[in-house]
Amino acid sequence: MSHPRVEAVAGEARAAIDRAASSAELEGIRVKYLGRSGDLTQILKSLGALSPEERPQVGAAANEAKRELEALLDARLEATRAAERRRQRERERPDLTLPGRRPARGVVHPLSRVRDEIVTIFTGLGFSVAEGPEIETDAYNFEALNIPRDHPARDMQDTFYLSPETLLRTHTSPVQIRAMRLQKPPVRIICPGVVYRRDADITHSPMFHQVEGLAVDRDVTMADLKGTLDLFAREMFGPRSKIRFRPSFFPFTEPSAEVDVVCFLCAGAGCRVCTQSGWLEILGSGMVHPQVLKNVGYDPEEVTGWAFGMGVERIAMLKYGVDDIRLFFENDLRFLSQFA
Ligand code: PHE
Repeated sequence: MSHPRVEAVAGEARAAIDRAASSAELEGIRVKYLGRSGDLTQILKSLGALSPEERPQVGAAANEAKRELEALLDARLEATRAAERRRQRERERPDLTLPGRRPARGVVHPLSRVRDEIVTIFTGLGFSVAEGPEIETDAYNFEALNIPRDHPARDMQDTFYLSPETLLRTHTSPVQIRAMRLQKPPVRIICPGVVYRRDADITHSPMFHQVEGLAVDRDVTMADLKGTLDLFAREMFGPRSKIRFRPSFFPFTEPSAEVDVVCFLCAGAGCRVCTQSGWLEILGSGMVHPQVLKNVGYDPEEVTGWAFGMGVERIAMLKYGVDDIRLFFENDLRFLSQFA
Protein backbone atom coordinates (compact mmCIF):
# COMPACT_ATOMS: atom_id res chain seq x y z
CA MET A 1 0.00 0.00 0.00
CA SER A 2 1.96 2.93 -1.24
CA HIS A 3 1.32 6.30 -2.76
CA PRO A 4 3.55 8.17 -5.21
CA ARG A 5 3.59 11.40 -3.14
CA VAL A 6 4.61 9.51 -0.01
CA GLU A 7 6.99 7.29 -1.92
CA ALA A 8 8.92 10.28 -3.28
CA VAL A 9 9.66 11.48 0.26
CA ALA A 10 10.21 8.00 1.72
CA GLY A 11 12.57 7.02 -1.09
CA GLU A 12 14.64 10.11 -0.53
CA ALA A 13 14.74 9.43 3.23
CA ARG A 14 15.78 5.78 2.76
CA ALA A 15 18.63 6.82 0.47
CA ALA A 16 19.78 9.44 2.99
CA ILE A 17 19.71 6.87 5.83
CA ASP A 18 21.73 4.53 3.66
CA ARG A 19 24.39 7.15 2.98
CA ALA A 20 24.57 8.52 6.54
CA ALA A 21 27.99 8.01 8.09
CA SER A 22 27.41 9.14 11.68
CA SER A 23 24.80 9.17 14.43
CA ALA A 24 24.69 12.97 14.18
CA GLU A 25 23.79 12.74 10.50
CA LEU A 26 21.08 10.15 11.30
CA GLU A 27 19.59 12.46 13.94
CA GLY A 28 19.53 15.21 11.29
CA ILE A 29 17.64 12.93 8.90
CA ARG A 30 15.08 12.11 11.61
CA VAL A 31 14.44 15.85 12.08
CA LYS A 32 14.29 16.51 8.34
CA TYR A 33 11.65 13.85 7.59
CA LEU A 34 9.94 12.94 10.87
CA GLY A 35 10.48 16.08 12.96
CA ARG A 36 7.71 18.52 13.83
CA SER A 37 7.98 20.26 10.48
CA GLY A 38 9.61 17.32 8.71
CA ASP A 39 8.64 16.41 5.12
CA LEU A 40 6.61 13.31 6.07
CA THR A 41 4.99 15.09 9.04
CA GLN A 42 3.89 17.84 6.63
CA ILE A 43 2.09 15.26 4.50
CA LEU A 44 0.30 13.86 7.58
CA LYS A 45 -0.63 17.36 8.76
CA SER A 46 -2.12 18.37 5.44
CA LEU A 47 -4.33 15.30 4.98
CA GLY A 48 -7.37 17.51 5.67
CA ALA A 49 -6.77 19.40 2.44
CA LEU A 50 -7.04 16.25 0.35
CA SER A 51 -10.11 14.86 -1.35
CA PRO A 52 -12.05 12.23 0.68
CA GLU A 53 -10.94 9.56 -1.82
CA GLU A 54 -7.28 10.40 -1.64
CA ARG A 55 -7.12 11.03 2.11
CA PRO A 56 -7.15 7.41 3.44
CA GLN A 57 -4.67 6.21 0.80
CA VAL A 58 -2.15 8.95 1.45
CA GLY A 59 -2.77 8.74 5.21
CA ALA A 60 -2.18 4.99 5.37
CA ALA A 61 0.89 5.18 3.12
CA ALA A 62 2.37 8.07 5.17
CA ASN A 63 1.80 6.28 8.50
CA GLU A 64 3.35 3.13 7.13
CA ALA A 65 6.34 5.05 5.75
CA LYS A 66 6.71 6.78 9.12
CA ARG A 67 6.87 3.45 11.03
CA GLU A 68 9.25 2.03 8.46
CA LEU A 69 11.61 5.01 8.55
CA GLU A 70 11.55 5.11 12.38
CA ALA A 71 12.50 1.43 12.57
CA LEU A 72 15.19 1.94 9.93
CA LEU A 73 16.63 4.95 11.77
CA ASP A 74 16.59 3.15 15.15
CA ALA A 75 18.42 0.16 13.74
CA ARG A 76 21.04 2.26 11.93
CA LEU A 77 21.50 4.55 14.95
CA GLU A 78 22.14 1.63 17.27
CA ALA A 79 24.77 0.15 14.96
CA THR A 80 26.38 3.52 14.25
CA ARG A 81 26.53 4.49 17.93
CA ALA A 82 28.14 1.16 18.83
CA ALA A 83 30.74 1.69 16.12
CA GLU A 84 31.38 5.23 17.32
CA ARG A 85 31.84 4.08 20.92
CA ARG A 86 34.29 1.45 19.71
CA ARG A 87 36.28 4.02 17.77
CA GLN A 88 36.35 6.38 20.76
CA ARG A 89 37.59 3.66 23.08
CA GLU A 90 40.24 2.88 20.52
CA ARG A 91 41.32 6.54 20.37
CA GLU A 92 41.40 6.92 24.13
CA ARG A 93 43.29 3.78 24.86
CA PRO A 94 46.49 4.76 26.69
CA ASP A 95 49.58 4.31 24.56
CA LEU A 96 51.92 2.46 26.85
CA THR A 97 54.81 2.97 24.45
CA LEU A 98 54.80 6.79 24.94
CA PRO A 99 57.74 8.10 27.01
CA GLY A 100 56.72 9.22 30.52
CA ARG A 101 56.35 12.87 31.43
CA ARG A 102 59.26 13.93 33.59
CA PRO A 103 58.40 16.17 36.55
CA ALA A 104 60.23 19.52 36.24
CA ARG A 105 63.27 19.45 38.54
CA GLY A 106 64.51 22.60 40.25
CA VAL A 107 68.22 23.23 40.75
CA VAL A 108 70.13 24.47 43.78
CA HIS A 109 70.71 28.23 43.44
CA PRO A 110 74.34 28.90 42.42
CA LEU A 111 74.94 30.99 45.57
CA SER A 112 73.60 28.24 47.85
CA ARG A 113 75.71 25.78 45.96
CA VAL A 114 78.95 27.79 46.31
CA ARG A 115 78.19 28.55 49.98
CA ASP A 116 77.59 24.84 50.65
CA GLU A 117 80.82 23.93 48.85
CA ILE A 118 82.82 26.40 50.94
CA VAL A 119 81.21 25.19 54.17
CA THR A 120 81.77 21.53 53.25
CA ILE A 121 85.50 22.11 52.61
CA PHE A 122 85.91 23.58 56.10
CA THR A 123 83.67 21.15 57.98
CA GLY A 124 85.85 18.46 56.36
CA LEU A 125 88.81 20.09 58.16
CA GLY A 126 87.03 19.90 61.52
CA PHE A 127 85.42 23.35 61.59
CA SER A 128 81.85 23.60 62.89
CA VAL A 129 79.16 25.88 61.51
CA ALA A 130 78.17 28.91 63.58
CA GLU A 131 75.50 31.46 62.75
CA GLY A 132 74.41 34.79 64.14
CA PRO A 133 71.66 37.39 63.74
CA GLU A 134 71.39 39.63 60.68
CA ILE A 135 70.27 42.49 62.91
CA GLU A 136 73.29 43.30 65.03
CA THR A 137 74.30 45.83 67.59
CA ASP A 138 76.95 48.43 66.92
CA ALA A 139 78.88 46.76 69.78
CA TYR A 140 79.19 43.39 68.03
CA ASN A 141 79.42 44.61 64.43
CA PHE A 142 82.01 47.32 65.14
CA GLU A 143 83.09 47.99 68.74
CA ALA A 144 84.19 44.48 69.75
CA LEU A 145 85.96 44.11 66.40
CA ASN A 146 88.18 47.06 67.19
CA ILE A 147 86.54 49.26 64.57
CA PRO A 148 86.90 52.77 65.95
CA ARG A 149 84.12 55.33 66.20
CA ASP A 150 85.53 57.38 63.34
CA HIS A 151 85.97 54.44 60.93
CA PRO A 152 84.34 55.16 57.56
CA ALA A 153 82.44 51.83 57.65
CA ARG A 154 80.39 53.29 60.49
CA ASP A 155 79.16 56.05 58.22
CA MET A 156 75.44 56.08 57.34
CA GLN A 157 76.67 55.99 53.74
CA ASP A 158 77.95 52.46 54.18
CA THR A 159 75.79 50.90 56.89
CA PHE A 160 72.04 50.40 57.16
CA TYR A 161 71.23 51.62 60.68
CA LEU A 162 67.94 50.59 62.28
CA SER A 163 68.58 52.81 65.31
CA PRO A 164 71.72 54.50 66.65
CA GLU A 165 72.68 51.19 68.31
CA THR A 166 71.26 48.56 65.93
CA LEU A 167 72.05 47.88 62.30
CA LEU A 168 72.00 45.27 59.55
CA ARG A 169 75.35 43.54 59.98
CA THR A 170 77.88 44.69 57.40
CA HIS A 171 79.96 41.49 57.66
CA THR A 172 79.88 38.06 59.31
CA SER A 173 82.74 38.98 61.67
CA PRO A 174 80.39 39.69 64.63
CA VAL A 175 79.63 35.93 64.61
CA GLN A 176 83.30 35.45 65.68
CA ILE A 177 82.67 37.63 68.72
CA ARG A 178 79.47 35.78 69.66
CA ALA A 179 81.15 32.38 69.26
CA MET A 180 84.24 33.32 71.28
CA ARG A 181 82.13 34.79 74.10
CA LEU A 182 80.25 31.47 74.29
CA GLN A 183 83.20 29.09 74.35
CA LYS A 184 86.79 28.76 75.47
CA PRO A 185 89.58 28.00 72.97
CA PRO A 186 90.17 25.96 70.91
CA VAL A 187 87.69 27.48 68.47
CA ARG A 188 87.30 26.39 64.85
CA ILE A 189 84.21 27.79 63.21
CA ILE A 190 82.90 28.59 59.76
CA CYS A 191 80.10 31.18 59.62
CA PRO A 192 78.00 31.53 56.48
CA GLY A 193 75.48 34.34 56.39
CA VAL A 194 73.77 37.29 54.75
CA VAL A 195 75.26 40.76 55.14
CA TYR A 196 74.17 44.25 54.07
CA ARG A 197 75.91 47.34 52.76
CA ARG A 198 74.76 50.52 51.07
CA ASP A 199 76.26 49.65 47.74
CA ALA A 200 74.80 48.67 44.38
CA ASP A 201 76.38 48.21 40.94
CA ILE A 202 77.29 45.30 38.70
CA THR A 203 79.66 43.83 41.29
CA HIS A 204 77.97 45.05 44.50
CA SER A 205 74.57 44.19 45.90
CA PRO A 206 73.06 45.81 49.05
CA MET A 207 72.42 42.28 50.34
CA PHE A 208 75.07 39.65 49.78
CA HIS A 209 76.58 36.56 51.38
CA GLN A 210 79.79 36.03 53.26
CA VAL A 211 81.53 33.10 54.84
CA GLU A 212 83.73 33.81 57.83
CA GLY A 213 86.33 31.43 59.20
CA LEU A 214 87.97 31.55 62.63
CA ALA A 215 90.56 29.41 64.38
CA VAL A 216 91.85 30.20 67.87
CA ASP A 217 94.12 27.97 69.92
CA ARG A 218 97.59 27.85 71.45
CA ASP A 219 100.33 28.43 68.86
CA VAL A 220 98.08 29.15 65.91
CA THR A 221 100.19 30.90 63.27
CA MET A 222 99.93 32.71 59.99
CA ALA A 223 101.47 29.61 58.39
CA ASP A 224 98.39 27.63 59.50
CA LEU A 225 96.19 30.27 57.87
CA LYS A 226 98.15 30.10 54.64
CA GLY A 227 98.16 26.31 54.56
CA THR A 228 94.43 26.16 55.23
CA LEU A 229 93.56 28.72 52.54
CA ASP A 230 95.92 27.03 50.10
CA LEU A 231 94.01 23.78 50.56
CA PHE A 232 90.72 25.64 50.28
CA ALA A 233 91.74 27.20 46.95
CA ARG A 234 92.75 23.85 45.51
CA GLU A 235 89.47 22.26 46.59
CA MET A 236 87.43 25.18 45.31
CA PHE A 237 89.21 26.13 42.08
CA GLY A 238 91.06 22.95 41.13
CA PRO A 239 94.24 21.08 42.16
CA ARG A 240 96.59 23.38 40.22
CA SER A 241 95.22 26.48 41.89
CA LYS A 242 97.69 28.72 43.73
CA ILE A 243 97.21 31.57 46.19
CA ARG A 244 99.29 34.54 47.32
CA PHE A 245 99.08 36.85 50.32
CA ARG A 246 99.16 40.62 49.89
CA PRO A 247 99.68 42.87 52.91
CA SER A 248 96.48 44.67 53.83
CA PHE A 249 94.68 46.26 56.74
CA PHE A 250 91.65 45.38 58.84
CA PRO A 251 91.07 46.88 62.30
CA PHE A 252 90.36 43.42 63.76
CA THR A 253 93.40 41.56 62.40
CA GLU A 254 97.13 42.23 62.71
CA PRO A 255 98.90 41.49 60.49
CA SER A 256 96.29 41.43 57.76
CA ALA A 257 96.43 40.01 54.27
CA GLU A 258 94.32 40.00 51.21
CA VAL A 259 94.39 36.66 49.43
CA ASP A 260 94.50 36.28 45.66
CA VAL A 261 94.01 33.11 43.67
CA VAL A 262 95.77 32.59 40.37
CA CYS A 263 93.44 33.57 37.51
CA PHE A 264 91.50 30.48 36.43
CA LEU A 265 91.07 31.84 32.92
CA CYS A 266 94.67 32.65 31.93
CA ALA A 267 96.47 30.62 34.65
CA GLY A 268 98.49 33.69 35.60
CA ALA A 269 99.45 34.91 32.13
CA GLY A 270 97.24 38.02 32.38
CA CYS A 271 93.86 38.52 30.72
CA ARG A 272 90.69 40.62 30.74
CA VAL A 273 89.18 38.84 33.79
CA CYS A 274 92.22 39.49 36.02
CA THR A 275 92.92 42.89 34.42
CA GLN A 276 96.30 41.57 33.18
CA SER A 277 97.58 40.88 36.72
CA GLY A 278 97.26 37.08 36.57
CA TRP A 279 95.60 37.12 40.05
CA LEU A 280 92.07 37.46 41.42
CA GLU A 281 91.31 38.73 44.91
CA ILE A 282 89.08 36.30 46.82
CA LEU A 283 89.15 37.17 50.51
CA GLY A 284 90.43 39.20 53.46
CA SER A 285 92.24 37.57 56.36
CA GLY A 286 94.74 37.99 59.14
CA MET A 287 95.79 37.13 62.68
CA VAL A 288 93.05 38.06 65.15
CA HIS A 289 94.00 41.39 66.76
CA PRO A 290 95.07 40.99 70.43
CA GLN A 291 92.53 43.66 71.36
CA VAL A 292 89.71 41.53 69.82
CA LEU A 293 90.88 38.51 71.86
CA LYS A 294 90.84 40.69 74.99
CA ASN A 295 87.36 41.99 74.10
CA VAL A 296 85.97 38.44 74.30
CA GLY A 297 87.87 37.57 77.49
CA TYR A 298 90.69 35.55 75.93
CA ASP A 299 94.31 36.05 76.96
CA PRO A 300 96.36 37.05 73.89
CA GLU A 301 99.51 35.89 75.71
CA GLU A 302 98.07 32.40 75.85
CA VAL A 303 96.21 31.95 72.58
CA THR A 304 96.44 33.29 69.06
CA GLY A 305 94.07 32.98 66.14
CA TRP A 306 93.42 33.75 62.54
CA ALA A 307 90.30 34.72 60.66
CA PHE A 308 89.19 35.23 57.11
CA GLY A 309 86.07 36.48 55.38
CA MET A 310 84.99 35.98 51.79
CA GLY A 311 82.09 37.03 49.62
CA VAL A 312 80.06 34.14 48.22
CA GLU A 313 78.87 36.18 45.22
CA ARG A 314 82.44 37.06 44.32
CA ILE A 315 83.59 33.44 44.49
CA ALA A 316 80.55 32.36 42.41
CA MET A 317 81.20 35.09 39.82
CA LEU A 318 84.83 33.99 39.48
CA LYS A 319 84.06 30.29 39.45
CA TYR A 320 81.25 30.51 36.87
CA GLY A 321 82.40 33.55 34.89
CA VAL A 322 79.32 35.62 35.80
CA ASP A 323 79.97 39.30 35.12
CA ASP A 324 76.90 40.91 36.69
CA ILE A 325 76.01 40.21 40.35
CA ARG A 326 72.35 41.11 39.74
CA LEU A 327 71.89 37.90 37.73
CA PHE A 328 71.95 36.02 41.05
CA PHE A 329 68.91 37.87 42.34
CA GLU A 330 66.66 38.21 39.29
CA ASN A 331 65.48 34.58 39.45
CA ASP A 332 65.51 34.26 35.67
CA LEU A 333 65.19 30.52 35.01
CA ARG A 334 67.25 30.84 31.81
CA PHE A 335 70.17 31.81 34.05
CA LEU A 336 69.47 29.54 37.02
CA SER A 337 68.78 26.37 35.05
CA GLN A 338 72.35 26.46 33.71
CA PHE A 339 73.55 25.35 37.15
CA ALA A 340 71.82 21.97 36.95
N1 PHE B 1 85.06 41.27 57.70
C1 PHE B 1 85.90 41.61 56.59
C2 PHE B 1 85.05 42.25 55.49
O1 PHE B 1 83.87 42.08 55.50
C3 PHE B 1 86.60 40.39 56.02
C4 PHE B 1 87.57 39.79 56.99
C5 PHE B 1 87.17 38.83 57.87
C6 PHE B 1 88.89 40.21 57.00
C7 PHE B 1 88.06 38.26 58.75
C8 PHE B 1 89.80 39.67 57.88
C9 PHE B 1 89.37 38.68 58.73
O2 PHE B 1 85.57 42.93 54.63
